[in-house]
Amino acid sequence: MDALKPSSTSPFSAFLPLLIAGVLLAGSALAGSALAGSALAGSALAAGSAESGKVKSVTCSACHGMDGNSLNPEWPSIAGQHESYLINSLNSFKSGARQNVLMTGMAMPLSDEDINDLAAYFAAQKPAPKVADPALATAGERLYRGGNKDSGVPACLACHGPTGLGNPAAGWPTIAGQHAPYTVAQLKAYRAKERSTDGDTQMMRNVSTLLTDDEIKAVTSYIQGLR
Ligand code: HEC
Ligand code: HEC
Repeated sequence: MDALKPSSTSPFSAFLPLLIAGVLLAGSALAGSALAGSALAGSALAAGSAESGKVKSVTCSACHGMDGNSLNPEWPSIAGQHESYLINSLNSFKSGARQNVLMTGMAMPLSDEDINDLAAYFAAQKPAPKVADPALATAGERLYRGGNKDSGVPACLACHGPTGLGNPAAGWPTIAGQHAPYTVAQLKAYRAKERSTDGDTQMMRNVSTLLTDDEIKAVTSYIQGLR
């Protein structure tokens, strides 16, 4: 947890209290999951129909694969992503808050019901396991689990979890098994402030600003191998 104590000059320290609040939130969400979790999951599932989503997903399969496992490493796999994060992502493309030449046109015509159904379907699919580049795995793991104390990079693990599964209640996406080239593109988009879907907290823009290209290369390979 040393990574949670970056030097006071680090730009990351500005949102340290928020991070700690988030970790506490994640902890209490886990603690309460036995009781409240069932009610939460029930209402989330009631929102969309995975069955209708499967029918609607045919248009998505050209790029994301039939079951949300894309074969092109530039395009994200969305199988097993949290339902709430899928809904947020599709709404961001639809509203123009997140821009992409391929996705914007796909999201524009979707109704709220379509979005809920598609999210229910893809969240229920199994992500296909992948492997990390052995030459990058050690450096990637070190950064993922411990951050970089010299530059103030926080451990990715603090929010995305030890196995990259994130935390749906806190809005932290699963990144486990994601194609490295896609993840590289996202980290560079946050770093260039081209992607700002992390909102007022700027969590990912702040994190990515501190990352070097070599760190991005290593950590994204490690993430690709997480399962
Ligand atoms: C022509 C190819 C193409 C099609 C068809 C397509 N997508 Fe995408 N999708 C992409 C690309 C490329 C991205 C990454 C965009 C970026 O870099 O921001 C993406 C991103 C996404 C994301 C965000 C993933 C994340 O981890 O943030 C979701 C969710 C998504 N697509 C869902 C869908 C759904 C649902 C459909 C069908 C209605 C669909 N896509 C159709 C290419 C496509
Ligand atoms: C303080 C919590 C926090 C930390 C630490 C953090 N993340 Fe994130 N991450 C988030 C949140 C919140 C989002 C969703 C932001 C959004 O909706 O755009 C996110 C999104 C992402 C995404 C985009 C996923 C997608 O497909 O859309 C990637 C990739 C990512 N993080 C990688 C990392 C890496 C690598 C590290 C460590 C260097 C890291 N994160 C550290 C909170 C965090």
